[in-house]
Amino acid sequence: MSTFEPVLSRNWSVADSHTLKVYESRGGYQAARKTLATMAPDAVVNLVKDSELRGRGGAGFPCGLKWTFLPKDRKATLMCVNADESEPATFNNRLLMERDPHQLLEGILIACFATRASTAYIYLRFEYIRAYRILEAAIEEARAAGHLGKNIYGSGYNLDVWVHRGAGAYICGEETGLIESLEGKRGWPRIKPPFPAIEGAFRKPTVVNNVETLCCVPHILERGAIWFKSIGTPKSYGPKLYTISGHVNRQVCVELPLGITCRALIEEHGGGVWKGRKAKAAVPGGISMGLLSAAELDTPLDFESLRKPGCLGLGTAAVTVLDDQTRIIDYLYNTCRFFAHESCGQCTPCREGTGWLNKMIQRIRSGGGRLEDLDLMLNLADNLGIMPGTTICGLADGAAWPIKNAIAKFRGELEDHIRTHQSPAHEVSRLQEDIAQGRQADDSRARLPILNGLLTAPASSRQAPGIGSV
Ligand SMILES: Cc1cc2nc3c(=O)[nH]c(=O)nc-3n(C[C@H](O)[C@H](O)[C@H](O)COP(=O)(O)O)c2cc1C
Ligand code: SF4
Repeated sequence: MSTFEPVLSRNWSVADSHTLKVYESRGGYQAARKTLATMAPDAVVNLVKDSELRGRGGAGFPCGLKWTFLPKDRKATLMCVNADESEPATFNNRLLMERDPHQLLEGILIACFATRASTAYIYLRFEYIRAYRILEAAIEEARAAGHLGKNIYGSGYNLDVWVHRGAGAYICGEETGLIESLEGKRGWPRIKPPFPAIEGAFRKPTVVNNVETLCCVPHILERGAIWFKSIGTPKSYGPKLYTISGHVNRQVCVELPLGITCRALIEEHGGGVWKGRKAKAAVPGGISMGLLSAAELDTPLDFESLRKPGCLGLGTAAVTVLDDQTRIIDYLYNTCRFFAHESCGQCTPCREGTGWLNKMIQRIRSGGGRLEDLDLMLNLADNLGIMPGTTICGLADGAAWPIKNAIAKFRGELEDHIRTHQSPAHEVSRLQEDIAQGRQADDSRARLPILNGLLTAPASSRQAPGIGSV
């Protein structure tokens, strides 16, 4: 096998890698110059299509193909660069922007030329203050040097790039939530169709691409589709930035060919599991993807292979390791809290389902679980998301997958927890107490120590069907 040469992170260790001077001295903007001087936009689209570059933002949709969905007779096109990066444990986009912002700008320039977009908005995660400052400075430099603005390289092509800081919400990373937020509205995902390519930001045809996806583009233009497809595994081509965090000795971001196994990533790049322990499980690509058990760690981290062990997909390729002393109930406690908090609330199955799951996990964790709760949670998880067709966006699937995977792979541990943590004076929420007492439900967050037997209160004393089992 040929030696792998990192390209996306190749400048990261160079001093002042965020500056135009360094980027140009290392061949930067040559691909864009050549593209604008010698290629027609459609030829660029075809080249990216041939490379089979798949989106790195989570869904893995083919990039070039997405660009072909733009209407042929469009009068205007907009580009939204998804730099929201709010999937927990994911930080590759941040490093790309902080350490090599001109690589991203070159990718944007080529992608906008290909799709005939004249304005690009970088929708940046609000918390990324350093990246914001670096991007603003890089855009200024690029404008002054003629890489952006009017008549770029004398080609007659114009492009402006603006940074728009996000609203600090996970849902604003979903492409139509992002567009709504960019337009100044609440970040509520839109019902599709129409897809953004037909009617996106400000009702114009819009391309939404992730930061890392766009950073691959200059390298494809420079080295060709065959080079790109020589890296990775079938249907998952090219280099990928993997992040590793959790219970490992080294928490890093590393560029590798798509398809490295989770075990190799942990052992060779994460320095192994910390404190000399073993791995119990690993989250393969952000918490919405579910989890791999220790026995499944030899699964390749690519777009196709992760479905076999029942994960949702590669997601953001952000691996989080759980050591053998971590309780699965605690992992579920964190994931359920996150999704219940981040659900935008438009779709009833997602809004209510994430809330119920969260309350059930809190109850089980604090000693009030029943064995039948696990099947009830599976039932809930099976009924929310795009997959069963009950919600507008994929957040709900992301909320369901950790539950599905944890119960399928760690049922014994969860049952043991339920059996051995039956506390006589466990805590439940005020809402549960109100329901049990037949009072008007007050969904306060206050938690009270309550009496034994509360959760077995007769169904007749409950306020609403279903809620009593939360
Ligand atoms: C709840 C949710 C959150 C998302 N967050 C992000 C994000 O932070 N960054 C991102 O690039 N894509 C995110 N996505 C995926 C985007 O909707 C979209 O597929 C992606 O930006 C397209 O770019 P790509 O094709 O280059 O991957 C999210 C999707 C969902 C359902
Ligand atoms: S699935 Fe959830 S997050 Fe997505 S639009 Fe519906 S309620 Fe909002």
